[in-house]
Amino acid sequence: MASVTTPRLPAPDGAAALRDDLLAADFTADGCLDLLGAVGYAALSRAETVPALRATRGGSPLETLVRLFLLQRPVPYGRARVALPGLDRYVADGWLVRDGDEIRAAVDVRPYAGDGGADWWIVSDLGCAVGGAGGIGGTPGASGGSGVDRADLVLGVGGASTTLAGLTVREPAGSALDLGTGSGVQALHASRHATRVTATDVNPRALHFARLTLALSGARQPDLRRGSLFEPVGDERYDLVVSNPPFVISPAGRFTYRDGGMGGDDLCRTLVEQAADHLTDGGWCQLLANWQHLEGQDWRERLVQWVPRGCDAWIVQREVQDIAQYAELWLRDGGDHRDDPAAYAARYDAWLEDFERAKVGAVGFGWITLRKTGSDRPAVTAEEWPHPVEQPLGPHIAGWFARQDFLRRHDDADLLDARFTLASDVVQEQVGVPGAEDPEHVVLRSGRGMRRATEVDTVGAGFAGVCDGTLPAGRIVDAIAQLLGEDPVVLRDRTPAAIRMLVEQGFLEPVTP
Ligand SMILES: C[S@@+](CC[C@H](N)C(=O)[O-])C[C@H]1O[C@@H](n2cnc3c(N)ncnc32)[C@H](O)[C@@H]1O
Repeated sequence: MASVTTPRLPAPDGAAALRDDLLAADFTADGCLDLLGAVGYAALSRAETVPALRATRGGSPLETLVRLFLLQRPVPYGRARVALPGLDRYVADGWLVRDGDEIRAAVDVRPYAGDGGADWWIVSDLGCAVGGAGGIGGTPGASGGSGVDRADLVLGVGGASTTLAGLTVREPAGSALDLGTGSGVQALHASRHATRVTATDVNPRALHFARLTLALSGARQPDLRRGSLFEPVGDERYDLVVSNPPFVISPAGRFTYRDGGMGGDDLCRTLVEQAADHLTDGGWCQLLANWQHLEGQDWRERLVQWVPRGCDAWIVQREVQDIAQYAELWLRDGGDHRDDPAAYAARYDAWLEDFERAKVGAVGFGWITLRKTGSDRPAVTAEEWPHPVEQPLGPHIAGWFARQDFLRRHDDADLLDARFTLASDVVQEQVGVPGAEDPEHVVLRSGRGMRRATEVDTVGAGFAGVCDGTLPAGRIVDAIAQLLGEDPVVLRDRTPAAIRMLVEQGFLEPVTP
């Protein structure tokens, strides 16, 4: 078996100089996209290097850096020196390694388009920036490309990371906690809108990578703490808690970056259950999670029981996989499909055995957002939404919670007194037999946020169409009753439920006085 060592990690001190050199060479997300083109860039995100190798045959500083860091190829010392004037220091600091006349990367440094047009870089273990552990430059077996024990690898930014970053409510915050920071991407985003950022991880290597990521990206250093779940923060409270936790439900805690090491979905459940004790009033907790679908129990019923008292919650299931698909997905992630067939089958069997023993029929993947309201009538919604959404969804998530607050504070009579505007992106679709006087179905469709559609009746469509914020809802209902020759009292009785639904789903926006 190949010996696995833990190479030293770069010192963060020279990060500012390295950033200047990277910027000077245009080694940024935009610069790399320009050089590689959309096709080459997209191929790279699938861990395919051939198009990028073809695009970097010229030897310019940017081509040299793409080869060095993105493709993880050795480059001649002379070329590296031209691309990075501070090269010798970066070698001394451990960012790069000199092998005779060649220079190679010691860590993965990947440009990342930051918020507000900022140029950021994510630092992670070699071979772990795309395609999971063992992606570009990675090797199969016990370790990634960096010779680090695979159990301790620190991954770069994956699809889950960017999904969570897009979901996060980016309001100005006094304090934010990134629980399970990995290479620090969520902490980096939080550094733009939170005065104080704390980042935790059980893996000390992850804390070091987070430090490197934030240093290289020119962000304020977070308060880095080692430990599991909320243990490192004691009873401290935060305005925002974000977590892309190791949510994989697996029979063994093999890989720290993905396996929580607790049974079933206990890690995600514990995180949700304990969140309220670590949130300020009005504070947000946002996480990605996997959850078990247990035989004979609706997943929604299970999930809403996780929600702590005093919190509104919106739980969205994006995808469901049966237990075989799920085991295969993560066996592939672990490189197990490259093992000998008998070992692969044994691991696969153990996974299914575990699921069958726990009576798990499928696994859901989704998002959980909590907001601490202190209300004794919390709004808790668990829904399935596998359809495309508009990212960044954070502003829409904030809007959903604000509207829940509004609906909680307004009974039916209040709703009829309130004024609403139709959300700007909503269109009406009519479906019916060509030439028919009336459509069979009228649908309101939103192009923003969750991109929802809902069927409405004539009253609902008419009501939504008139909502421009000038008239109270009750006056509009009375006018529609007169127009349709209906009893206004009956219509006033019936319409608040429809208004409630249209507000909840974001078709109507309450006008605040
Ligand atoms: C899926 S990675 C997420 C990394 C990064 N936050 C992102 O969004 O890409 C999960 C991280 O959680 C860490 N972790 C694993 N178990 C943990 C625990 N019990 N408490 C806190 N962090 C944990 C892992 O070391 C890993 O860095």
